[in-house]
Amino acid sequence: MDVHCMSIKGRDIISALDLKREEVELILNEAESMRNELKGRRCLHLADDKIVMTVFLEPSTRTRLSFQYAAAYLGARGIDFGATEMSSIQKGETFEDTVTMIDGYGPDVIVLRQSVPGNAKKAAEIAKAPIINAGDGANEHPTQALTDVYTIRREIGRLNGVKVGIMGDLKHGRTVSSLSYMLDRFDGNTITYIAPDELQVKPEVLGKLTRTKHSKAERVEDVIEELDVLYVTRIQKERFTDQKEYERLKGSYVISRGFLEKFRRRPIIMHPLPRVDELTVDVDGMREAKYFEQARNGVYVRMALLKEVMG
Ligand code: NCD
Repeated sequence: MDVHCMSIKGRDIISALDLKREEVELILNEAESMRNELKGRRCLHLADDKIVMTVFLEPSTRTRLSFQYAAAYLGARGIDFGATEMSSIQKGETFEDTVTMIDGYGPDVIVLRQSVPGNAKKAAEIAKAPIINAGDGANEHPTQALTDVYTIRREIGRLNGVKVGIMGDLKHGRTVSSLSYMLDRFDGNTITYIAPDELQVKPEVLGKLTRTKHSKAERVEDVIEELDVLYVTRIQKERFTDQKEYERLKGSYVISRGFLEKFRRRPIIMHPLPRVDELTVDVDGMREAKYFEQARNGVYVRMALLKEVMG
């Protein structure tokens, strides 16, 4: 790829590492202009003849809907694969055949979520249409990471020299790896991984960080006042092989208003959502709570990404 022309057109977006810093900045800047242009308008008509196929073989609310809204606001047609229960996957159709078949109808892009790490890449090898990975098991979730850095840039005002704490299930959370890689595109950021040992970040994620200083902490209270951002994540129940282990660890970290009010200096609170026990609803009314805004930001970021990928 020629960095100077920065064409994202036709490319698969499988990992946060697939985007260079300049490309991330281009997408975030476009997201910001989409946001402004959409004020008082329902559709920007930037992709009227395009078709966006969404295929969610694992549960999703925000990612699926924000892609569908993004397509609608661009003027593109969104076609959804529907629930797996309604598809021939139920009859035993293989993943490969499903991808070949979908691709054969001629979508301009396929947005894919499924549970097997690495299968987004496999789909990209099969399909002619570009694949956007909307979550492949515990591996990656690059468009969430774009949404996250867009939110950080809007709220903190920069993407360099930011101190981010990522808390919760760092072992199974795919947003954790993708956000780490995305922050590593910029300079002088620090990441503190806050979790009990059993749920700490995967060594292979740390191994891919080149610019970011990182450390681990067990107790959020020890580090919270040094952070600009506290990124809370859910314990990923569906990724535990031992449900007893899940029961033991759930609720090991709870961010509540009462907890946050103990500190004089407080970071903004982000969360990819859905939340379960780790973030209580009494935080919602606090100035620092940015997670619903973060979810809304996902629409603009995905508009920008879809527009670039579809050309
Ligand atoms: C996340 C995901 O699916 O990985 N949700 C999302 O896309 N906003 C986080 C999660 O499920 O915990």
